[in-house]
Amino acid sequence: MSYLFEDKVAIVTGAGGGLGRCHALELASRGCKVVVNDLGGTLDGSGGGSDAAQTVVDEIKAAGGQAIANGGSVSDPADARGMVTDAMDAWGRVDVLINNAGILREDSWTEVSMEDFRLVLEVHLVGTAYVTQAVWPIMMEQNYGRIVLTSSPSGLFGYPGHSSYAAAKMAQVGLMNTLKIEGAKNNVHTNVISPVAGTRMTEGKVPEEVFKALGPELVTPAVVYFCTNDAPNGVILQAQAGKFSVACVMENEGMQLGAGTTVEDIAANYEQIVDLTNVKPRDMLPLG
Ligand code: NAI
Repeated sequence: MSYLFEDKVAIVTGAGGGLGRCHALELASRGCKVVVNDLGGTLDGSGGGSDAAQTVVDEIKAAGGQAIANGGSVSDPADARGMVTDAMDAWGRVDVLINNAGILREDSWTEVSMEDFRLVLEVHLVGTAYVTQAVWPIMMEQNYGRIVLTSSPSGLFGYPGHSSYAAAKMAQVGLMNTLKIEGAKNNVHTNVISPVAGTRMTEGKVPEEVFKALGPELVTPAVVYFCTNDAPNGVILQAQAGKFSVACVMENEGMQLGAGTTVEDIAANYEQIVDLTNVKPRDMLPLG
């Protein structure tokens, strides 16, 4: 099976460097037309206006691919709509959206400012929502769409100093859980990637040899798989250093204690309530 994207158009946010750049290059090398978005700026989200997106577009074109640069911010609703308008004006459709843009502001929960907390959520969560909502009607109308949301082990499992980042990253799973149901009937599939990669986000935080083994290009195949016709719907894939695995929200069998359950009943039965012997993923079907 070969996976080509010759009739497809993708938007990759935050694609001026790191993981997003690798995703954009790989899609373009497979014939996809790509809107390379990046507002530039530093890791903590300050600054902006660099030529990061244009540099990646130049790289794609030099390799014979097709791409256009977009310097908007995902956390600005007009800019988010602008990314979609750019794709529609240039190529008349959008098949793939990779929500990858992100920033990091680290602080312990004791120290974190609510301003920083809000800013991180505005990029990762609200920004993802803005761009995703802007492409949604197009994908639903054409009965085809592939949306990737970018989570993180910090969100799935926790990490000290990452309260805002972890909250924003686990929120990607919550968003996917609704989109996978609402998009299914129109062949709009939404999945989550949880990467670990050697980029400026992790530079200096892991030993040099580990950093080198964590090439961002090693995450890209899983993300590009999510962009294919074969993509699953509602899956969280983890990818790091060439290892790929699935992460799931599971539910155990639990215990029916009934009306009138007291705190004492919970305490007395706690071991059985939380017993993980028969855990399984739970499909939450739409109500009604
Ligand atoms: P990066 O800092 O190289 O890439 C993020 C890109 O997003 C930057 O080019 C930045 O300019 C852009 N960006 C930031 N705010 C933006 C905005 N408002 N609008 C448009 N673009 C914006 O870092 P990396 O590692 O490539 O991160 C990519 C994604 O992967 C992020 O969502 C990050 O949280 C996530 N991630 C990365 C991990 C890692 O180990 N590197 C681990 C888990 C998740």
